[in-house]
Amino acid sequence: MTDASSLNLLDPDPLDPRTAVAVYVHWPYCAKICPYCDFNVVRDRGRTGEQAGLVAAILKDLQAQAALVGPRRLASIFLGGGTPSLMPPEAVAAVLDRIQTLFPADGPVEITLEANPTDAEAAHFAALARAGVNRLSLGVQSLNDAALRFLGRNHSAAEARRAIAVAGAAFDRLSIDLIYARPDQSVADWTAELQAAVALGFEHVSPYQLTIEPTTAFGRAAARGDWTPPDEDLAAALYETTHSVLEAAGFEAYEVSNHARATAARSAHNLHVWRGGDYLGVGPGAHGRLTLEGVRTATVARRRIADYVEGVAAGTPWSDSEGMDAIEAAEELVLLGLRTVEGASIQAIETLGVRDKSAELAEDGFLFVHDGRVIASSKGRPLLDAVLKTLLT
Ligand SMILES: C[S@@+](CC[C@H](N)C(=O)[O-])C[C@H]1O[C@@H](n2cnc3c(N)ncnc32)[C@H](O)[C@@H]1O
Ligand code: SF4
Repeated sequence: MTDASSLNLLDPDPLDPRTAVAVYVHWPYCAKICPYCDFNVVRDRGRTGEQAGLVAAILKDLQAQAALVGPRRLASIFLGGGTPSLMPPEAVAAVLDRIQTLFPADGPVEITLEANPTDAEAAHFAALARAGVNRLSLGVQSLNDAALRFLGRNHSAAEARRAIAVAGAAFDRLSIDLIYARPDQSVADWTAELQAAVALGFEHVSPYQLTIEPTTAFGRAAARGDWTPPDEDLAAALYETTHSVLEAAGFEAYEVSNHARATAARSAHNLHVWRGGDYLGVGPGAHGRLTLEGVRTATVARRRIADYVEGVAAGTPWSDSEGMDAIEAAEELVLLGLRTVEGASIQAIETLGVRDKSAELAEDGFLFVHDGRVIASSKGRPLLDAVLKTLLT
């Protein structure tokens, strides 16, 4: 992330939520559940019939939500999970066709699908590209076999490298996910791993610091003391390493955990969400943000697959939908915006009544103002949680 002198804003104005909409589709099935993961996921084995029912429910939910939001321009599509690379390509094509029929686009639209890098899944990449996917987000996690075993992954480093090569040939755009701050990982290990990764050639990388969620197998193992995650100082050093190695390789951190080789390589879908654009959340547990009759509304779909399918049939797919007041909406814009190079609008800061606090943080060098937007500086960015706490409490 950069300071004012080198800002390169793609489009500083949020997409008008009344005219554009993105779509997030959640596919909850995985071949194996990873011990660190607390997303809404289930094993896929023996669930072929259930999956066909879920595809039908997703198609119906899309139709119902389109009727609710009215005519909109399509901003982007993101198929996430779980493991949507396990979705039959015909089902992917049906979902993408339905979305693009309901929401016409002005021009080419970014369509991302999350994939696991196994040989079996790489064999479907060409079919997924033919179905309309034009950007793949590959969960490589590590290029070190011992680390992949620790993370409980069902692929080797060699398999991940093969998947990157196949994906590079099948898709115009490729992003990879990596997980760092693993127990016993040194700065030197992480530097070497990151340098080996960037040499493979992709336009976008999302390095995530390993989060230990209490309800996961890793949460229980860490609580038992089976292993210890890096302390605060090492975690901070690993974070700095991530940014310096990627910057040296030509990547820009346009968001705390998202680095792109060029402005055009930034994720249009994520930018739309971070800018406060509307998006439909479809599929079990999916979150959405819709402007309904002028009110920004947060939606959450029913989390259990059977409940979601029944809910769609009954016209009640959501377990929760709540209108956000102006303060809640502005707080979300500030929380998301300050993580990005675009920052948050002064208007949102004023709605929250924190202009003075933001001026103090700017005086101390943690924030700066550029073109009507408040942006985290290179000093404030690594301390973003503390900066946000000061600003918002
Ligand atoms: C929802 S997962 C889907 C990707 C795909 N199923 C896979 O695992 O390759 C998206 C990404 O979140 C990241 N992730 C999930 N749980 C995490 C955790 N506890 N800590 C850090 N990153 C995590 C991983 O990098 C993963 O690729
Ligand atoms: S990390 Fe990916 S593959 Fe592993 S359980 Fe989570 S969603 Fe599934």
